[in-house]
Order: sequence, then C-alpha cells, then structure tokens
Amino acid sequence: MSSEIPIITLDGPSGVGKGTICLRVARATGFHILDSGSLYRLVGLLAGRRKLTLEAPIAPEVLAQLSEITKNIDVSYVEANGQLSIQLAGEEVGELIRDEAVAALASKVAAIPEVRSALLARQRAFAEAPGLVADGRDMGTAIFPKAGVKIFLTASAEERAKRRYKQLIEKGTDANLAALVADLKERDERDMKRSASPLMAADDARIIDTSEMSIDAVAREVMELVAERYDI
Ligand code: DC
Repeated sequence: MSSEIPIITLDGPSGVGKGTICLRVARATGFHILDSGSLYRLVGLLAGRRKLTLEAPIAPEVLAQLSEITKNIDVSYVEANGQLSIQLAGEEVGELIRDEAVAALASKVAAIPEVRSALLARQRAFAEAPGLVADGRDMGTAIFPKAGVKIFLTASAEERAKRRYKQLIEKGTDANLAALVADLKERDERDMKRSASPLMAADDARIIDTSEMSIDAVAREVMELVAERYDI
C-alpha cells in the first residue's frame, strides 16, 4: 500500500543544502529521490523555449500550453557518482536547468496553481518501494502530508549566499556576495508569499537551522531522525 512506503520530506528555502542532504540520505537508505524543484525548472525551461509570456494576468492559451507542457514532460533521473543526471527526452539538462535564467522562469511557473496541480500526481508517483526522499518547498505540507519524517532546513540568507559564493568561485565563475544575498532574499519572499502552496514548515516538521552546522552534521541529524522512525 502506497501509504506505507517510507517517505522523508526535506523542505526549505533556496540554497539551504536540501539537494546535498537528499542525495546523502538516499545513498544511506537506498530510497528514491524526488528533486521537485527540477520539475518546476523543466517546466520553466520548456515555457522559455516556447517563449510563453508568464507575466500576470496569464492568457488562457498560455495556461493551456503550460498545462500541456506540465502533463507531458518526458523526464528521467539517473544517479551516477553521487550526482543526479536529469534527462529531458534524452537531452541531458542537469546543468542547463541550474541556470539563473531558468531559475527565474521556474519561480514564475511555480506560482501558477494550474502548474502546481498538474504536477501533484507526478510527484506522488515517485513514492515507490523501498522509500522516497523528497526535496522541495511543499513536500511535507501539500504533496506528502502523511510522510513519516518531515524536515525543514533553514539558514540565514547571508549564510546561504556565502555557501553559494564559495561554490561559484570554486567553479571559476564570477560572483558578487551582496548580489547573491539580495537574490536569495527576493526568492524567499516570492516562495513564502505566493498563495499556492507557499514555502513553510509543516506543523509536524523538525526544523533544523543549519547556519552554524557543517553538511556532515546536518546529514547526521537527519539520519538520526530517519533511523528513529524507520527500521534502517
Ligand atoms: O529548489 P529549486 O531552486 O530547484 O526550485 C526551483 C523553483 O521551483 C523555485 O522558484 C522554488 C520552486 N519550487 C516550488 O515552488 N515547489 C517545490 N516543491 C520545489 C520548488
């Protein structure tokens, strides 16, 4: 019965490390992964390729196209060497959808209730044996309200921006810390203020403030919670 499949939800704002923790937990448990943000990014990418106008009020024909795009995304996820490869109709788009331009489109489509509801069943279908680790904004609230372990990760925008800055510099990409802080604050605001499934912790979620924690320490705490609930 699908309601008995172990589900761990990891919600929280952009740049808090959900993706990294999700991969670690998946590796430790053997569970499947749902990177729900990638679904919104893929819809954003496809909407961008069709040059759809996403400014409110959204035209009915644009909404119809978005619904069609959302229902028909041909995506597959393959884990290789601790990385998640994302393939859209056979095209590797893992890097492409991390792009800032795609992130901006994703954030717009994520605020559209029709897109969110069209993704509901698709996200729930990821819950298969032996279990699922789902990362996003509304995993513990809207998508898997009965999940056995719900975690909400937070960290100050300054700390998240510092982490992203370090990653970008290490990759040899130019970065501006103040701009990153401003960008994250703007995204937080958009994620928390939208009316459709806003970013918030479920009442029964464990909130972990990771500002002063290493990734290893966060992963340890999460795994302790998982082990308390599931026989792993
Ligand atoms: O986690 P991410 O940065 O890949 O998410 C991309 C966008 O999708 C971001 O604007 C937040 C949104 N999102 C959402 O609204 N609900 C989710 N469950 C996951 C992501």
